[in-house]
Amino acid sequence: MSCHTNAAAKGLALAGGAPLDTPFGIFVPPNITPHPTAGIGGWTIQDFAKAVRQGVSPEGDPYYPVFTYSFYAGFTDQEIADLWEAFRTVPPVADAAPAHDVGFPFSFRSGLKLWRAAYLDAPETDALMGTSSPWNRGRLLVEGAAHCAACHTGRTLAGGLDDSARFAGNDSLPGGSKAPSILVADLLEGGWTVANLAYALQTGLLPNGDAFGGSMAEVVAEGTSYLTDADREAIATYLLDPDGSGDIRNPLVLSRRPRWRGWTTRKWRWAMRTRVLAVALALGVFALVGAFIWTTVRTLDPRDTVADQSVPTAEVSEVLPDGRIDVQVYVLGNRDVRLEIQFTPDADAIDLPLCGRT
Ligand code: HEC
Repeated sequence: MSCHTNAAAKGLALAGGAPLDTPFGIFVPPNITPHPTAGIGGWTIQDFAKAVRQGVSPEGDPYYPVFTYSFYAGFTDQEIADLWEAFRTVPPVADAAPAHDVGFPFSFRSGLKLWRAAYLDAPETDALMGTSSPWNRGRLLVEGAAHCAACHTGRTLAGGLDDSARFAGNDSLPGGSKAPSILVADLLEGGWTVANLAYALQTGLLPNGDAFGGSMAEVVAEGTSYLTDADREAIATYLLDPDGSGDIRNPLVLSRRPRWRGWTTRKWRWAMRTRVLAVALALGVFALVGAFIWTTVRTLDPRDTVADQSVPTAEVSEVLPDGRIDVQVYVLGNRDVRLEIQFTPDADAIDLPLCGRT
């Protein structure tokens, strides 16, 4: 209901909603008051049933799945009839909502037929043997009419619900807001119990004294606050005991933890882990590069860094008793080289060398 009422702009009930900014384009929830031309006053109850349960317009066109009809496939004829009666009581509004602003290729509604083939599944809401009636009622509401997964389950690139991340939260709601995880582990960690969750769905007040923000505030104001206490408890029972085992555990911590809006504890832990990993990796690389530079610098000889300007000099140091001559050659360059050569003047070969190098 809240989608079709632009509360922020003080719009009239069901006369058309605030535009939903999605990756596929901007969708404007239409006027669904009983006005004969601007709204759905010209529809028959059969048209209405087809739209709500099957997501097909009276003209036979598929609706974009921003209209969460996939959750309503299990509505009974009686429920459709009750809903239709309720819609007829809303004051008609004569202004039609503006058209969607959806870019190519999503502007072709025919493409939706493929999407429907890939993603359209009726929710599983039939009663399960061996589970309590509140649990079954909760499942019917959560998986069906209340369409909690529409916001709390992430979506694939094609905009279908990502079944592998059911209820694990969604970071990219229309307009860029976030819905946290409502998986049982995270709810327990957040201090939720059947009682305080049912109360929050009635009043919008959280156990820590805060209040629901964003679209969840509208879900409560326009939706769950109108349910019976038993239905709200049923929703909480189903969420806190998703297997229907009848065993609802106590919350893991009291809800004193700081609330990181939109951050689930699981995501937070993951982010911390990746940060710690990144820092460790950076330190490792830094240490390696440092060690390499250090060893290279250590083996460098500073004398090599200046051009060698030396001119070799040689001097006869002594004439030995056997007639040989001892000559010392100095190359006093960056590296001191001293060569000592002894030779006999009349011999062919020079007797090489006593050679020193420092
Ligand atoms: C239109 C989108 C939307 C729908 C539909 C929706 N939610 Fe939410 N929900 C949100 C957003 C956004 C928040 C975060 C609110 C905040 O940060 O204050 C939220 C928060 C919550 C939280 C608080 C979780 C926490 O750990 O703080 C619970 C519990 C919850 N929703 C349950 C439900 C249930 C049950 C339903 C179905 C009846 C539902 N939601 C349907 C958008 C939605």
